Amino acid sequence: MANRYRVSMRLVELAKVTDRDWRQVIAGEPEPWGGVGETLHWRTSTHRLGLRDEAGTLVALAGLLLADVRVGDSLLQVAGIGGVIVTRAARGRGLARLLIERVLQVANELGAERATLFCSPANVRLYAKFGFKLIEGPVFAQQPSGVIEMPMLAMWKPLTAGADWPEGRVELPEEPF
Ligand SMILES: CC(C)(COP(=O)(O)OP(=O)(O)OC[C@H]1O[C@@H](n2cnc3c(N)ncnc32)[C@H](O)[C@@H]1OP(=O)(O)O)[C@@H](O)C(=O)NCCC(=O)NCCS
Repeated sequence: MANRYRVSMRLVELAKVTDRDWRQVIAGEPEPWGGVGETLHWRTSTHRLGLRDEAGTLVALAGLLLADVRVGDSLLQVAGIGGVIVTRAARGRGLARLLIERVLQVANELGAERATLFCSPANVRLYAKFGFKLIEGPVFAQQPSGVIEMPMLAMWKPLTAGADWPEGRVELPEEPF
């Protein structure tokens, strides 16, 4: 049953996410990002991937962009993954896996050596299944009010053999993704 549900989904790349797209995916759920993500300003992704069901309704979304991250003395360019959501009624059927696997392929195609994302503690085990590891220590990022310590966990995943995560203070020169 789960597999049949998955194969009836169409992976799409969206030029932009419209209000209608958001309404379809959020489907009236209050604070789908747990109330924390909703309070922050996020960068707009350059790549937006989604899943549409047989009726054409958007049931999942994820975004990706290349972003700079300062780690100690190093400036890394990472594939920043954000805005991952599966509409509430379709969770637990492998749709996030379908989408995240494609997002990671696109990150590879963009030539990124590392993927990075922010998540709540409840989703750490989900991303660990895809090879993401926790970034120890605080991560700082820009907000309209200035630099803040991110109130979410950050994770990273090597996309090339030998990519590591250097020691040192982690700061995004722009808003998070
Ligand atoms: C998090 C979210 C995207 C997961 O979507 P989903 O379609 O239910 O996930 P899947 O069914 O594809 O699960 C993929 C795998 O992760 C596991 N998994 C899913 N959620 C998990 C969780 N919270 N903790 C641990 N494992 C989890 C599944 O068991 C599955 O494992 P398997 O492939 O080895 O069998 C979805 O719950 C959601 O949209 N939540 C609200 C928004 C949100 O929190 N987004 C993440 C922002 S970082």
